[in-house]
Amino acid sequence: MQRYWIPELKPGIHFVGSRDWDRRMFDALVPLPEGTSYNAYLVVGSEAVALVDTVNPGFEPELLDKVHQILGDRPLDYIVMNHAEPDHAGGIPAVRKRYPDAQVLATRRGADMAGLYFGVPEDARQVVSDGDNLNLGDKTLRFIEAPMLHWPETMFTYVEEDRVLLTCDFFGSHTAAGLFSDEDDDLIPRMQRYFGEIMMPYRRMGARALGKINDLDIDIIGPSHGPVHREIEPVLSRYQSWTRGDMANKVLIAYVSMWGSTRAMAHQMAQSLGDLGVEVRLYDILTTDTAEIARDLVDAKAIVLGAPTVLAGMHPVGVNAANLVRALRPPASYAAVLSSHGWSGGAMKQVEEVLGATDLEMVGYLDIQGPATAEVLAQVDELAEKIAERLSG
Ligand SMILES: Cc1cc2nc3c(=O)[nH]c(=O)nc-3n(C[C@H](O)[C@H](O)[C@H](O)COP(=O)(O)O)c2cc1C
Ligand SMILES: [Fe+2]
Ligand SMILES: [Fe+2]
Repeated sequence: MQRYWIPELKPGIHFVGSRDWDRRMFDALVPLPEGTSYNAYLVVGSEAVALVDTVNPGFEPELLDKVHQILGDRPLDYIVMNHAEPDHAGGIPAVRKRYPDAQVLATRRGADMAGLYFGVPEDARQVVSDGDNLNLGDKTLRFIEAPMLHWPETMFTYVEEDRVLLTCDFFGSHTAAGLFSDEDDDLIPRMQRYFGEIMMPYRRMGARALGKINDLDIDIIGPSHGPVHREIEPVLSRYQSWTRGDMANKVLIAYVSMWGSTRAMAHQMAQSLGDLGVEVRLYDILTTDTAEIARDLVDAKAIVLGAPTVLAGMHPVGVNAANLVRALRPPASYAAVLSSHGWSGGAMKQVEEVLGATDLEMVGYLDIQGPATAEVLAQVDELAEKIAERLSG
């Protein structure tokens, strides 16, 4: 059997997860330019052993080899399932096959999901609630319910004696590289990207979970994707800010264009807002990684969507972006729309339906016929001024 390098975060707490260097998409939605990792933690106490989370299907042999490398013939007593999504719980069937006596610990809803998704029988499931402890001898696990981060069953596991908090997706980032986040120069943008795509819609639940861990003594936060945090303050303060919905003086412009009319308006908007001292991010939606847009939605105060009419409605790529904004529920306060049509239009009606379901205040829109003339660009400048006024007001 291959011998693995298994980092020990604290005596008896082993990092037994896997790196998925080749994965390029997540949830069939967000690109993973740097792959990702599925972090699992083996907590070895004097009396009992618990595995906190598992790995994505396909990585079970590596996980089992690592667990065996540490435990030898010693049994695994518990599998703690912080989250039921298959990237962390998908390895449960293989682990149970190797260790049939291991009990699966999860929240009430998690226990149901362990049955539904992974065939864990009722007598192998153990429900834990907020504040419950599990004694492993010289180590104690405490469970902290943290629902809707980002599924209903999610929880955190805290190793009391070692002050290690295992938070599954919360505080995560997608990269296969590295081990500790204080050695990672791109940490914050990468975490922001991850927060935008997964946690942003549940900001309130995130803030509530942060409140619960506020008084905990924490040396290490171990998420289930990306590097482990030994420096807690920078990570915690970002999450406080993002869950609060703190915004920068920043406008996100996302557009799609077939023949350049909408593109010309979008670029004029960027130029004009920049001249007014506003921070701008402009993306051609068609060629932009969705998670980059999600990252800038975390702290943009206004969103400008540009998309022309196609077949009496909004260009489908624009509809997709509008739907993403609605679904991700960013903190932004203001919106504007730029569009072009050839004859009777239709894009505006559709975008109003989608964005009308959000709390965004529509500052204004331009729906022109045909190309963006000099007169149109002057109108874009006027709309930019209105947006800048809102941002400063
Ligand atoms: C495939 C296709 C379908 C279109 N369908 C409509 C339509 O149903 N109604 C309309 O008013 N214009 C329609 N147009 C015209 C475009 O909306 C118009 O050319 C617009 O100026 C394109 O903006 P753009 O330069 O930003 O791509 C269509 C254009 C294309 C290429
Ligand atoms: Fe998840
Ligand atoms: Fe995950």
